[in-house]
Amino acid sequence: MPNYRIAPSILSADFARLGEEVRNVVTAGADIIHFDVMDNHYVPNLTIGPLVCEAIRPHVQVPIDVHLMVKPVDRIIPDFAKAGANIITFHPEASEHIDRTLQLIRDNGCKAGLVFNPATPLNHLEHVMDKLDIILMMSVNPGFGGQSFIPHTLKKIAAVRKMIDESGRDIMLEVDGGIKIDNIAAAAQAGADTFVAGSAIFGKPDYKAVIDAMRSELAKV
Ligand code: DX5
Ligand code: ZN
Repeated sequence: MPNYRIAPSILSADFARLGEEVRNVVTAGADIIHFDVMDNHYVPNLTIGPLVCEAIRPHVQVPIDVHLMVKPVDRIIPDFAKAGANIITFHPEASEHIDRTLQLIRDNGCKAGLVFNPATPLNHLEHVMDKLDIILMMSVNPGFGGQSFIPHTLKKIAAVRKMIDESGRDIMLEVDGGIKIDNIAAAAQAGADTFVAGSAIFGKPDYKAVIDAMRSELAKV
């Protein structure tokens, strides 16, 4: 069985109590904290930046996975690295120089990855596989929590799984958007190993019950 990881998205957390929220979700079994950065330009919503990353950093030991939905990308990367990010991903449409942005993330000591929207072609992967630590597949269009999983993205996840396996490299395959207890196994079957879930976890009173239920679904795959 692959090493499955659950990455709650704090987008659906109570921002007035964020320190407590991230501590609670890690105690409940989260492996990673997923941190959604939106700029009201690349996506039609505005969320959180490096200051908030720095504020939650002392509260948890697990990796902080910064998903940049911003354009341009490069200027903000060193700020997130200084704020304690461990993983930084960005959308290829948002960078003029994808190879340079990946290198910039690595030079700042973080794991680097590309994010593919449901309709973004995968051709960039051909050229940068050796610079990727993670590939993030969107199963909704980015911008908001609480949207419904788009089923045709499963085929695309499977295609990326094949590319990763053929590369022989150790690259995480993360899925993001509309992941719930009842579809996490399908995403795992398609080849994902890291599962972002926002509203499914933070929208419920008992985080541990949800994470445990997700893990028992994954155990059946
Ligand atoms: C969407 C974000 C997701 C989102 C996931 O643009 O990238 O991380 O918060 O939330 P749910 O799990 O509610 O779809
Ligand atoms: Zn995200």
